Amino acid sequence: MRIKFNESNFKPIEIPDNANLSEYLDKLNSPVLFGCRTGICGTCLIEIIESENSTPPSANELETLELLAPNNSKARLACQLVCSGEIQLEYLGL
Ligand code: FES
Repeated sequence: MRIKFNESNFKPIEIPDNANLSEYLDKLNSPVLFGCRTGICGTCLIEIIESENSTPPSANELETLELLAPNNSKARLACQLVCSGEIQLEYLGL
């Protein structure tokens, strides 16, 4: 999969489809930061600008998103996101 970072000078990166984003994005020092990695803290809050294929959020992720980004239907937690193909995202963080 290819990840593009909106509003960032960070170059697009390629990682395996359905990879654990927190593992790869940390190693590559991407603009997306991680904390708990279990969908609770919101450090990895992102907005999906465009995505070819990503799984919908789980009930637990939706619960966290309702607290952190109640009016943003494109918000996701990068630590919980599973996707493939090309994705463009913007880091919102907390
Ligand atoms: S790292 Fe805490 S919610 Fe993703």
